[in-house]
Amino acid sequence: MTVLKSDLETTPFMQALRRQKSGYTPVWLMRQAGRFMPEYRQVRAKTGFLELCHNSQLCAEVTVMAVELLQVDAAIIFSDILLPLQSLGSGLEFVKGDGPVIHNPIKTVADVEKLPKIDCKDSLSYVLEAVKIARQELPVNIPLIGFAGAPFTLASYLIEAGSSRNFEKTKRFMYTQRQAWDMLMQHLSVIVSDHLNNQIEAGAQAVQLFDSWIGCLGQSDYTEYVLPHVAATIAGVKRGVPVIHFGTGTSALLELMKQAGGDVIGVDWRIELNEAWEKIGYDRGVQGNLDPVVLFAGKEEIKKRAERIFKQAGGRAGHIFNLGHGVLPETPFENVKYLVDVVHELSIR
Ligand code: CP3
Repeated sequence: MTVLKSDLETTPFMQALRRQKSGYTPVWLMRQAGRFMPEYRQVRAKTGFLELCHNSQLCAEVTVMAVELLQVDAAIIFSDILLPLQSLGSGLEFVKGDGPVIHNPIKTVADVEKLPKIDCKDSLSYVLEAVKIARQELPVNIPLIGFAGAPFTLASYLIEAGSSRNFEKTKRFMYTQRQAWDMLMQHLSVIVSDHLNNQIEAGAQAVQLFDSWIGCLGQSDYTEYVLPHVAATIAGVKRGVPVIHFGTGTSALLELMKQAGGDVIGVDWRIELNEAWEKIGYDRGVQGNLDPVVLFAGKEEIKKRAERIFKQAGGRAGHIFNLGHGVLPETPFENVKYLVDVVHELSIR
C-alpha cells in the first residue's frame, strides 16, 4: 500500500504525540505481540525467539497481526532491545525460563575499551527490513513505532550478564570506573541514536526509548551518570520525529527524564497519572499507565480503572493510553482486547 504522510499525521496517535486534539484517545500496548496471544504462541512453537527476531518477514507479520487482532492505534515493530548487544559480540542467548543471558559480559575497563565499533545499518539490517515490510503491510492509518533500549538499561544487561534485581554489578562499575562508564554509555548512545534513525528512515513514524530499569537509581545518580547520555541519545534522533521516553519505577525521576528529552514520557502505575503529568509539565505528553495485572481482574475492574486514568488525564491533548509496562504472558487475550475497546468507547469525543 502506498502510504501518504498526511494519512499518518492525522491519526489520533500522531496527534497525541504532538499534543494536538484527537477524536479519541489512542491506545497501544507494550508487548502487544507476545505470548498472551495464541497466534504468537503458534509462531513461536516453530521458531526460537532470536531466530524470529532475525526473520524480517515473520517479524513484520507478527507486528501487523497484533494490530489486526487488537485494533490498537499504533504498531510497534517486533524486535528486541538486546539485539544491538548481539552485534557487539556479547554472546546473547535467550534461555527458556531464564530470559536473556549474556555469555561475554563486561567486567573490566579493558572489556569496554575493546568493544567493537559497529555499523548498525549493516549489523541490524534485518530489523530495518522488518520495518520496511511492516510499513508496507500495515493499514495507511496505523503509525509504526521503532524502538531501542536506552544506554543505562542496555549497559545493565552487558554488565549483569542478563536480568538483575539490584543492579549491584552495574552500579559498582558506575561508581568505581567513572571514565570507562562514560565511555560505555557514549558507545551505546551512538548505537541507539543510529538504530533509531535507521528505523525512521526505513519507515517508522515515531520512536520509543526504553529505559526500563532506570528506576533503580536515585536522583543524583541519574543526574550524574545517566542524564547527559540519554540527552545525547535523544538529541541525536532526527528532528521532528516524536520520541517517547519510557521507564519504570520512575516516580522520583520524571522531571529529570523530561530534562533528558522526549515529546512524551511513558510512566508506570506506581504513580497516579495526574500526579505524573503535573510533575512532567503540560508541555509534554504522557503515555500510560494501567497496571498490567489489572488485565487479570476482569472487565468491570478494567473499565473502572480505565475511567480513572481518563479522569486523571483531564481531557487534555497529549495522552496516549498504554499499560505501565508490557502485557504479561498469562494475560487472557479477551481482556486485552476489551481494554482496547473500552478505551475507545470511553474516550470518543
Ligand atoms: O512490544 C512489542 O510488542 C514489541 C516487541 C518487544 C519485545 N521486547 C519482544 C519480546 C519490545 C518492545 C521489547 C523490548 C524489551 N526487551 C525490553 C524493554 C521493555 C520492557 O519489557 O521493559 C526489555 C527489557 C527487553 C529484554 C527482554 N526480551 C527480556 C528481559 C526478555 C525475557 C523476558 C520475557 O518476557 O520472556 C525478552 C524476550 C521477549 N522480547 C519476548 C518478546 C515477545 C518474549 C520471548 C518469547 O517469545 O519467548
